[in-house]
Amino acid sequence: MTNSNKKIRKLEDSVIRLIAAGEVVEGPSSVVKELTENSIDSGAKNITIEIKNGGQDYIQVADDGEGMSTDDLLLCTNRHTTSKIFEASDLEEIHTLGFRGEFLASLAAIAKLSILTKHVNSAQAFNLQIGPIINNKFQSLSLRDLQKKQRTQGTTIEVFNLFSDIPARKSFMKSPKSDTSKIIELIHSFRLASPTVKFTLKQDRQILFQTQGVLEKQSESKNIFNGLIQVLGKDTAKNLIEIKISDKKALIEDQPWIVSGWIGKPSESRPTRQHQYFLLNGRLIKSKILSNAIEQGYGTFLARKQFPIAIIFLTGSPKNVDVNVHPAKLEVRFRDENLIFSLITELVKNTLMNQGVSFSPITYKKDELTVKNKTETINIVQKPLLRTNSEVISPKTTTASVSEMKITKDSTEALSEIVEEIYDPMVDIYDESTTKKKGGVLSMNHVIKKSAVKNLQPVAQFRNLYIIAEDPENPYNLYLIDQHAVAERIALEELLRTKGSSDEKIDRNEKSSSKREIRRQKLLVPLTVNLSPQSMDTFREVKSLLLKFGYRGEEFGTNSVLIHSLPLFFGRNRLLRHSKGKESLIQDFRNILDSVSKGLISDHSPLEVEIAKLIACKNSIKAGDYLDHDEMVRLLKKIADADFPFVCCHGRPAIFEINNKEIDKLFWR
Ligand SMILES: Nc1ncnc2c1ncn2[C@@H]1O[C@H](COP(=O)(O)OP(=O)(O)O)[C@@H](O)[C@H]1O
Ligand SMILES: [Mg+2]
Repeated sequence: MTNSNKKIRKLEDSVIRLIAAGEVVEGPSSVVKELTENSIDSGAKNITIEIKNGGQDYIQVADDGEGMSTDDLLLCTNRHTTSKIFEASDLEEIHTLGFRGEFLASLAAIAKLSILTKHVNSAQAFNLQIGPIINNKFQSLSLRDLQKKQRTQGTTIEVFNLFSDIPARKSFMKSPKSDTSKIIELIHSFRLASPTVKFTLKQDRQILFQTQGVLEKQSESKNIFNGLIQVLGKDTAKNLIEIKISDKKALIEDQPWIVSGWIGKPSESRPTRQHQYFLLNGRLIKSKILSNAIEQGYGTFLARKQFPIAIIFLTGSPKNVDVNVHPAKLEVRFRDENLIFSLITELVKNTLMNQGVSFSPITYKKDELTVKNKTETINIVQKPLLRTNSEVISPKTTTASVSEMKITKDSTEALSEIVEEIYDPMVDIYDESTTKKKGGVLSMNHVIKKSAVKNLQPVAQFRNLYIIAEDPENPYNLYLIDQHAVAERIALEELLRTKGSSDEKIDRNEKSSSKREIRRQKLLVPLTVNLSPQSMDTFREVKSLLLKFGYRGEEFGTNSVLIHSLPLFFGRNRLLRHSKGKESLIQDFRNILDSVSKGLISDHSPLEVEIAKLIACKNSIKAGDYLDHDEMVRLLKKIADADFPFVCCHGRPAIFEINNKEIDKLFWR
């Protein structure tokens, strides 16, 4: 159409509905979401959802809520009709899940609906059939459009052939399988949000699952937890850490939000944010702010591209949040974003710090391993190699598991392959493939308290990788320590405690052991490092951060840097004494810049922390370094002083505690 023909006209109601429908009806799972929210808003205690073909052919949501009067039934599919808000000021304080009054109207535009409802004060149930827009003109409805039916109190809404008359959208529909799994996930989240409601999900008349639904307040959190077991699996749910702000603190500090819930231990992290649930006054929301706040709380405990598990309940006045941001009401805006951000970050950080983290060997989860030789290995990995849970391994079961392991030549090789893949700390931690395999391979059964590692003494070094240690005052535990992982964490803490300084004086005054500044080792002959143009740019960008952490570098020609001094902190001291080759010092520096310029760093923490992590990693005791007794003693002493020695900079476990009972079990004592 050319501009000269331009003419504004008012769109037909049917077209307006179609436009709106495009926004709010995304697919079967969004229909289930909206209908279920309506049921929850109606005060239902039992909600049954039934789907056929992933919801594409048929969706039914039935509840025992208050139902609708005939007046309401005739209105509910009109545009902008709602019983939940009345005037503009109500928008400032929304107490229900719905409020926009547009979902049923939109749904009726794109599918055939049947609404059967019996109001709490009515003796009779009524049925309305409506839609889709192609067949109906949506003239105003009257009582003649309703049929009398039988039903107990509540509402049943059926949706037939979603989008079948809208070919453009129909062709975008996903596979029914993925719709089903989305719906399952959704109902599980509803269960977390509304633990007092009993949800039943049926597919093709068969019950897929049913939740408990409890009425007493006390059982609520238990029911939520049962829900978590369903969503996350027993092993993972068992290893969640509870978080809460005590009500007292909230009162004292006049916090507008009460926060509670669970977070996963760092090593239970996942490659997506799929297992982060935020429930704001019973509303399931997505929130970048909350995700970022949590991840920031984990900080350096998280591996790159790993996201923590979190189930966070926020309770507060609806006045402090605007839910009218997004047609699907998934996103919200907090009145004070900074406050909520720091509240959550601090809470997560403190919870992790106080808890201590436990990595307890060793149950392999077969589904999380990707091994080439699948059939051969699964028999083996299903069996725990060493159990640390409380159940007693009787000699009989042990024998059985040994015989079941079918140790053929191939399978033993396969086993060693897996163990190597998981445990070999010499593998470069920045290697994509190892990061992926790592998450959640170990199950963690008990917590190591920080006090437990205050007095460790070395027993021996094993394979130049691990230190075996004990606590003479508490001879019941054995400790296995990954020397590189702890050294790296200790170095990181040391680096992050430093105050920035670009002051030249430090260079001249090498011996000043000011606690707050990283000491530097000045080089008699500067090292020349050749860099790619990309890394050269990165160098310019992060030069001052490098200086803060002890590397004083200077541009030299187009593509090289002269290094005048190196950081001198725990780990590094030792390396220099053992006169680490010049080549490897250059290589380390180049690796640090390459990792930053290629984006091989995590985005969970600020760049400064990421640089410190790289420097700590490159300059610490490495896997494969022989340590003499004194060096082990020194390292273990550093563990005692560390804030959080249990995981390395990348979220890998650093210390295991094994109880003597667990060892005795191995020997059937
Ligand atoms: N399951 C139900 N039980 C009782 N009333 C319902 C139910 N579903 C919808 N309604 C009524 O229909 C109205 C319109 O629903 P909807 O289009 O989803 O808008 P909203 O939920 O935003 O109000 C609701 O305000 C409510 O009064
Ligand atoms: Mg609604």
